[in-house]
Amino acid sequence: MEHLEHVEFPQPRAADPKTLDFKSLSFKYTQTRSFVMYTSKNGVWDQGKLVSNPYIPMHIAACALHYGQAVFEGLKAFRAEDNSIRVFRPQENARRMIDSCKRLCMDFPSEELFMTAVERVVRDNEDYVPPYVSGGSLYLRPICFGHGAQIGVAPTTEYTFLILVTPVGAYYKGGLQGVRAQVITDFDRAAPRGTGAVKCAGNYAASLLPHVMSGKAGFPIELYLDAKTNSKVEEFSTSNFFGIKVVEKDGKKVIQYHTPCSPSILPSITNKTLREICEHYLNWEVCLEDVFINEIDQFSEIGATGTAVVVTPVKEVHYGQKLFKFAETVGEHTQKLYDTVQGIQYGRIADKFNWNWILPQKK
Ligand code: COI
Repeated sequence: MEHLEHVEFPQPRAADPKTLDFKSLSFKYTQTRSFVMYTSKNGVWDQGKLVSNPYIPMHIAACALHYGQAVFEGLKAFRAEDNSIRVFRPQENARRMIDSCKRLCMDFPSEELFMTAVERVVRDNEDYVPPYVSGGSLYLRPICFGHGAQIGVAPTTEYTFLILVTPVGAYYKGGLQGVRAQVITDFDRAAPRGTGAVKCAGNYAASLLPHVMSGKAGFPIELYLDAKTNSKVEEFSTSNFFGIKVVEKDGKKVIQYHTPCSPSILPSITNKTLREICEHYLNWEVCLEDVFINEIDQFSEIGATGTAVVVTPVKEVHYGQKLFKFAETVGEHTQKLYDTVQGIQYGRIADKFNWNWILPQKK
């Protein structure tokens, strides 16, 4: 009997950054020059390497494949008008990845290793960071997974941490046009004491069936409620939820940014940024409290926020037989949030808190 000794992987070609149409990018994978990859054994990480072939060999008993030991992150690098390259709040992603790994009993890259990996991979793929005028960005997707062979249900002792990069444009077609959302009523995203607050692959695997069903019904985005009472808004399939309310207090107009707070919501770095923008840039009030699905018509504008979707207005929410309608196009406050966060990311607005990590000049 003949046995195949090696699996031959194809080596797809990287896109040529000189001919890439950066203005027409959507949120799809385009192959770049390299990704950076590290491995660990019993908690000790190697020196890592830049790799060009996107296929990696995998043990058939890898813990990630059987028991879902896999977590990921998403962050972006922007090219400013002065041509500098800025990565937005990477240390926050490092810390969240560490939390995710701890929840899944995985080895994790230190914040320092994470930052070194960011610098190595962005440096090697500088020419894939879309030009300032294109409005695109280089998406960084760090992943960490258990690659060690593990047949009994237990954590493995061998892990891979890698960051792939790919240039992207808007996640939802039309950008700031407003999307239609459907509330998922037959499935839950995360249990109250489950893994909803960490970025593990399994949360997204569980969302795929409802996503496909909603997509067929004409909804590009799904909204999840809390699993216990099915009455409170948790988050969208891809991102966090926010609502805008304009109220009067002591004869003065007050703009409020509402977003729910729950142990099963993923702590979005963009949502945190918007809350900080409200407080320190716009002088708006932040309300971190329950949002009941039956009361979302109290908001004048609602939207989705996250690294990939940035700030995306939601124009309709379908909840069973109910329909909540919002403005067809982007509302003025949602636009302000979008302009401010993108302004800071692209270097048009003062970065008061040093959120941008700037790629050092080549020596
Ligand atoms: C991101 O916003 O970067 C994410 O990782 C969300 C993903 C579902 C696209």
